[in-house]
Amino acid sequence: MTFHLSDTAYGTDTPEAKQTMYADLRSQLTGLVHGETDWIANTANFSSLVFNTMPGLNWAGFYFLKTQDELVLGPFQGKPACIRIKRGRGVCGTTVEKGEAIVVADVHEFPGHIACDVNSRSELVVPVFSKGEIIGVFDLDSPLPNRFDAVDAEGIGSLVKILEKTLEA
Ligand code: SME
Repeated sequence: MTFHLSDTAYGTDTPEAKQTMYADLRSQLTGLVHGETDWIANTANFSSLVFNTMPGLNWAGFYFLKTQDELVLGPFQGKPACIRIKRGRGVCGTTVEKGEAIVVADVHEFPGHIACDVNSRSELVVPVFSKGEIIGVFDLDSPLPNRFDAVDAEGIGSLVKILEKTLEA
């Protein structure tokens, strides 16, 4: 059976449906992090909320810069993943270099893509900032080709902004 995004509760195969889903996610995330400043707790709940709400994902989670040149795996949902990624390597390390979200329609076409799960076909990586400095990335993988677009990059970016505010509290 072929999986269609239109079969899901949100039917996220149109930009309008995606906007509705992200508005709901922002509202749920605001409730989840309310009054809580623990970064591990908040990023763990963030991963779970996104992974269990968005259709068509096989992985969602964080990598954090432990040193300026290396990302290390953080809270996530999905199969065990590669632990360390050098700055500039793969989609995650490239996002750190660019400081902006990257949408990869087909991971096989991205030079240097790091395959943690052979089933992954498309990917979205969004940077995470603290006090204007990049501190890591939030990575989403999908077994569906072309799963993510600019609406997803903006929607996930808006969720990351809510998370970043808990660092300032
Ligand atoms: N594909 C990522 C590596 C992380 S996993 O997908 C969880 C990359 O190329 O950076």
